[in-house]
Amino acid sequence: MTTTGAKPPGTSDEASAAVAVREMFDQIAPRYDLLNHVLSMNVDRLWWWRAARRFRGVLADPDAAVLDICCGTGDMTMALLKRRPQGARPILAADFSRGMLARGAKKFAAHKDGAPFAVPLEADALHLPLRSGSLDLIVSAFGFRNLANYEAGLREFNRVLKPGGQLGILEFSEPGGLIGKAYAVYFRRVLPAIGRAICGAAGPYNYLPTSVGNFPPPPEMLELMNAAGYEQCAWQPYTFGIAGLYTAARAL
Ligand SMILES: C[S@@+](CC[C@H](N)C(=O)[O-])C[C@H]1O[C@@H](n2cnc3c(N)ncnc32)[C@H](O)[C@@H]1O
Repeated sequence: MTTTGAKPPGTSDEASAAVAVREMFDQIAPRYDLLNHVLSMNVDRLWWWRAARRFRGVLADPDAAVLDICCGTGDMTMALLKRRPQGARPILAADFSRGMLARGAKKFAAHKDGAPFAVPLEADALHLPLRSGSLDLIVSAFGFRNLANYEAGLREFNRVLKPGGQLGILEFSEPGGLIGKAYAVYFRRVLPAIGRAICGAAGPYNYLPTSVGNFPPPPEMLELMNAAGYEQCAWQPYTFGIAGLYTAARAL
C-alpha cells in the first residue's frame, strides 16, 4: 500500500522523518511564537479561534474528553480552553517536541484557581498513550502535515475517539487563482527569507512551503479520512483557502 506523509530532506523512511521533524521543532521552539505571528500577520489567532468555535458544542460539555495533538507552544489549546466551562475536565495537550511542549506548558500553568486548564503530555501522534474509544474531540492545528504517515495518524485518532467523536484538523493549503499565485510568491520566497533572518537557520522555513506543497489537497485528504473510518468529512477554507479546517466524526 502506498502511504503519504512528511518527508523532510535527507530522510529515507518514517522513523528518520519523525526524528527530523522533532529535532526541527526543538530547534525553532524558542522563536516559534514570534515567527508564527510575524509570518501570518497575526491571522493565525483568527484561525485558532474559528477552529475552536466550530467545536463549541462539545467544548461546552464539562465532561468531554478533549485532546489537542501536535499542540506545540499551545495557542490552539488556549483557544479551546476559552470555550471550556468552569470546573471542566482538563484538555490533554500533546506533542513529541519537548522544546515546544515546555513552552506550551508555561502558558497552561498560568491559569487561575478553578479556571479550565490543560495538561501537557509528551507523546507521538502515531502512538498515543490513550485508551481506545476514550475521547470526544481531537483537534490538531498545523501539526498533522508533519506526521510521517497520514493514514496511520488518521487511524490512530480513530482508535482513541469514541464512536461519534469529532476530529478537527487545521492545516495550510495552496489556494488557486490569482490570489494563489500572489500567495505562492510570499510563501515560497518571502516567508523562508524572514524565517531565516529571525530564526538563524534556513532548514525549517524552507521545509514549511515544501511540506504544504506535498500535503494532499482537500479532495484527497477527504478521501483519506473516509477510508480511515470517518463520516461527515468536510473541509472549510479559511482566508481564501490559505488554511482550512477538516472536520469529521468517527463512524458510529
Ligand atoms: C507547526 S507546529 C504547530 C503547533 C501548534 N498546534 C500551533 O498551532 O501553533 C507543529 C507541531 O507538531 C508537532 N508534531 C509533529 N509531528 C508530531 C508527532 N508525530 N507527534 C506529536 N507531535 C508532533 C511538532 O513537534 C510541532 O510542535
